[in-house]
Amino acid sequence: MSLDLSVQIGSLTLKNPLIAASGCFGYGVEYAETVDLASLGGIAVKGLFLAEREGHPPPRIVETPAGMLNAIGLQGIGVHRFVADKLPELRARGATVIVNVCGTTIDEYVEVARVLSDHEGVGAIELNISCPNIKEGGITFGCSLTGTFDVVSAVRRVTRLPVIPKLTPNVTDVASFAHAAEDAGADAVSLVNTFLAMVIDVETRRPKISNVVGGLSGPAIRPIAVRMVYECRQVVKIPILGMGGIAVARDALEFMIAGASAVQVGTANFVDPFIWSKLLAGIREYMERHRLTRIRDLVGTLDTAHTLSEKSDA
Ligand SMILES: Cc1cc2nc3c(=O)[nH]c(=O)nc-3n(C[C@H](O)[C@H](O)[C@H](O)COP(=O)(O)O)c2cc1C
Repeated sequence: MSLDLSVQIGSLTLKNPLIAASGCFGYGVEYAETVDLASLGGIAVKGLFLAEREGHPPPRIVETPAGMLNAIGLQGIGVHRFVADKLPELRARGATVIVNVCGTTIDEYVEVARVLSDHEGVGAIELNISCPNIKEGGITFGCSLTGTFDVVSAVRRVTRLPVIPKLTPNVTDVASFAHAAEDAGADAVSLVNTFLAMVIDVETRRPKISNVVGGLSGPAIRPIAVRMVYECRQVVKIPILGMGGIAVARDALEFMIAGASAVQVGTANFVDPFIWSKLLAGIREYMERHRLTRIRDLVGTLDTAHTLSEKSDA
């Protein structure tokens, strides 16, 4: 059976729906000896500001039940070093590159997007308006409907690349943010970024990470993320890139049935860097078993009229 796993995100075609999530796959090149970068649907590289950034002092990550807490603080090499040192190799290796763009002001988002738009090899811009671990910019835009609209529309005006704002789950009604992004001209939305959380060492009564609070990721957040994707699917027409705790093919399929056109995988890559071929094989196996020739036909097919406990006529 010939299977079509391709996904369309604005003008960008992904060869399959599996994307490495930002911050969990470096700049892609670090994994080039382990993973065939061209075999992934896309690589969302670590968030980039205009300038280099150190991030927070250690400790910056701690394991939690079924997940991890991080407050890296968006350490990064800055957009100019990225386009000079990393982009050529990504291009040579045939990677589909999605650049996670950060900013402390709207002007900075616009400037980073402008620099990226001038270089061949960038497939799309993912606007990080949702990092919970920095004080200025970022999530302040992502937690305000007008802030979301303003950043997205400002970047939209300066680039032809697909613009994909990445939404925070740290709001009451994430669908209204997806709607604001769509109104502002976004080609897609990605969700979710990490959930604000903290872990305390009870013996010392100290926080386990230097920033005191951080962002929770991994399987612990998956059911909440799936619910948020489902809610956004009811409200927007643009594609959704779903993520949060995907560790096996079944998890990726769950997000797609809820309404995600493609999925991103973050924390699970730290556990198993060879996860990609297993995820792809699992998706193919499911498609064959369900006689689906095109993966896009699975998107948003949740049957809310029946639950598992009811007998299905199908
Ligand atoms: C160590 C770490 C660093 C991250 N850095 C970024 C980042 O730079 N930009 C961003 O948008 N999201 C970042 N994220 C969030 C992930 O891309 C993803 O949204 C989140 O972890 C949920 O997916 P997961 O449960 O599969 O990890 C980071 C997550 C982790 C764990």
